[in-house]
Amino acid sequence: MDNSSAPLNGTWASRWVFILAATGSAVGLGNIWKFPYIAGEYGGGAFVLLYLLIIALVGVPVMVAEVMMGRRGGMSPVNSMKKLAGQAEVTSRWKALGYLGATAGFLILTFYSVIAGWALYYIVAMPTVLVGADTEQVAAVFDGLLASPMTMLLCHSVFMLLTVVVVLQGIYRGLQRAVQVLMPALFVMLLVLLGYAATSGGFNEALAFMFTVDFSKLSSEAVLVAMGHSFFTLSLGLGAIMAYGAYMPKEVSGKDGRRRPVSIGSTVLTIAFLDTLVALVAGLCIFPVVFANGLEPGAGPGLLFQTLPLAFAQMPAGIWFGGLFFVLVLFAAWSSSISLLEPLVAWLVEAGWSRPRAAIVLGLAAWLIGIGSVLSFNLWSDKTLFGETVFGTLDFLTTNIMLPLGGLLIAIFAGWVMKDSHARKELNMASFKVYLGWRVAVRIIAPLAILAVFAHGIGLI
Ligand code: PFF
Repeated sequence: MDNSSAPLNGTWASRWVFILAATGSAVGLGNIWKFPYIAGEYGGGAFVLLYLLIIALVGVPVMVAEVMMGRRGGMSPVNSMKKLAGQAEVTSRWKALGYLGATAGFLILTFYSVIAGWALYYIVAMPTVLVGADTEQVAAVFDGLLASPMTMLLCHSVFMLLTVVVVLQGIYRGLQRAVQVLMPALFVMLLVLLGYAATSGGFNEALAFMFTVDFSKLSSEAVLVAMGHSFFTLSLGLGAIMAYGAYMPKEVSGKDGRRRPVSIGSTVLTIAFLDTLVALVAGLCIFPVVFANGLEPGAGPGLLFQTLPLAFAQMPAGIWFGGLFFVLVLFAAWSSSISLLEPLVAWLVEAGWSRPRAAIVLGLAAWLIGIGSVLSFNLWSDKTLFGETVFGTLDFLTTNIMLPLGGLLIAIFAGWVMKDSHARKELNMASFKVYLGWRVAVRIIAPLAILAVFAHGIGLI
């Protein structure tokens, strides 16, 4: 476990590199594809408010806990948990939390790659079949994609390959350079699109839809989905952030050459802020197009792929712009998918596997299971389990059950099991009050909120 884990024990070059990598993990399909469509499905404003509340009260404290545990553990989530359990003098069974998370990450990867494959397809479709398309043609292109298992399989295969290629090289050499260019580019593109959306009709309706709170529209399932999505979007509960936290330096050199501690709290706030901003801006780009063209806000997983192409098709030079936008969606998804694979690969490397072998074997397995999600949109669309397709079941199980459960266990470990002195030392917060606030959040607020949402979701309260 020592020599073979050596490449894993590297640290990010600076606090900013960690922020970029973790933001790269957090900002992905969850923000641009999923958030708008679930906000649309679950009624808009009330859902958005709930999501924001959960991010602030549960997401941020759990993320602080996850980074802190990762940095202190310094290894893959499974082995970090074993080490932390040893330090806390409790059973090493806590490493099960690492396995739970790694399994969830692996399962998410199987369908994440399929949806990212759609973005890949649109990079080509935008400047070709979508030129000048109207609402019906845009819908026909999307339906055509879903009806073609071979096209989807091809795109899924290419995306999985991209993920494996980065992970097998070690995470941060290629990735570090890529996220430094791509994340700012994504922000600029989103802002330009927002400018377009704000001036092209439907914007006021979109604002009203997203920010007028009507609690009567909120179902118990919506509460569960808002909780699950808060974890999904911040990449919490499965060890991805813990694995990245393990590569986070404890101190960095300032401009004056003096070593300064790296503050986990403010780092996490920056990541959560950027992630939330991207989700809200994505919603504000998509819903005006929905309302201006009489589309359905609750259209489901196809929403992004049926709205933005329409806006692009109408813009001057929109097809190129649209193609580029989907390149950026692809990169956002790419920087997330590598963090889904990393925890398991890191663990296998610590167990003595070579990194390429671990990445290839796991990537191949995820690719194979992903075929179930490919077929969920066509040949197997009528094969359901609890009323959901393979894709729907995997998405529900991982996002709404496994991630919040992982988050619950992380909060309990950080708040109740870990020694207070260890947590405080690792967090090194300047303000004791802020530390206390965090501690109350992970000991009480987060666990109660997660348990209440679970109970509500299964109809107990
Ligand atoms: N946060 C990513 C998104 O919003 O698309 C998805 C994700 C990545 C979830 C990594 C979990 C994770 F560990």
